[in-house]
Amino acid sequence: MDQQRFDDVDRYLDALFVADDPVLDATLRSLADAGMPSISVSPTQGRFLTILTRVSRARRVLEIGTLAGYSTICLARGLSSDGRLVSLEYDARYADVARANVERARLSDVVEIRVGRAIDTLPALADEPPFDLIFIDADKASYPEYLEWSVRLSRPGTLIVADNVVRDGEVLNPDSSDENIRELRRFNELVASDERLEATALQVAGAKGLDGIAFAVVR
Ligand code: SAH
Ligand code: DHB
Ligand code: MG
Repeated sequence: MDQQRFDDVDRYLDALFVADDPVLDATLRSLADAGMPSISVSPTQGRFLTILTRVSRARRVLEIGTLAGYSTICLARGLSSDGRLVSLEYDARYADVARANVERARLSDVVEIRVGRAIDTLPALADEPPFDLIFIDADKASYPEYLEWSVRLSRPGTLIVADNVVRDGEVLNPDSSDENIRELRRFNELVASDERLEATALQVAGAKGLDGIAFAVVR
């Protein structure tokens, strides 16, 4: 299996399952126009996030790492009519782009984007009711801290999802010179061994190479 085959299969599945979505298409255009990195979840992964939100009957969703709001829109689409999503983003310019995309998706009443380092904006959320689903997708070096915060902001049954936990298999290297990889390895060990969680991770091949997504349910 090679990268060309992963590209072709992604194109095939995207066309089959997520074709003709003007809101998501416009979101990806806005990202390119603003010169933002092309690191949104893929269309089929986005649909998977919608499905996870829907099957978990989530009413409160937390996202850490908004970018242009692609995953934000996908998560929010799975919410029931009284649902709410809070997304945390460091870059104020990215948050502005994301807000315009959320508006285009007619989800402005549902989605709130808070600007700042997540480690600084997470504590205020402890005063709110717990979240039903939490999607971790910001700076990889902070994943261990985001896991701890996620458990703190959860209730029994909360689903925690974390993107990018395989990174082309680089997480196999315990001596990586990249701090992001070392902290992702630590995150994987923490999520796997935490007695408060029932967890797993799946590797995902696609147009962006080989990566993985971790899942944990709070006991
Ligand atoms: N979830 C998005 C992609 C997020 S990319 C999607 O799939 O559509 C990662 C995002 O995390 C970037 O927008 C980056 O600016 C943001 N980020 C990086 N460090 C952060 C921090 N310390 N706190 C909050 N957001 C951060
Ligand atoms: C990067 C971040 C992501 O969230 C992602 O899905 C892919 C790549 C990155 O920072 O390189
Ligand atoms: Mg990601």
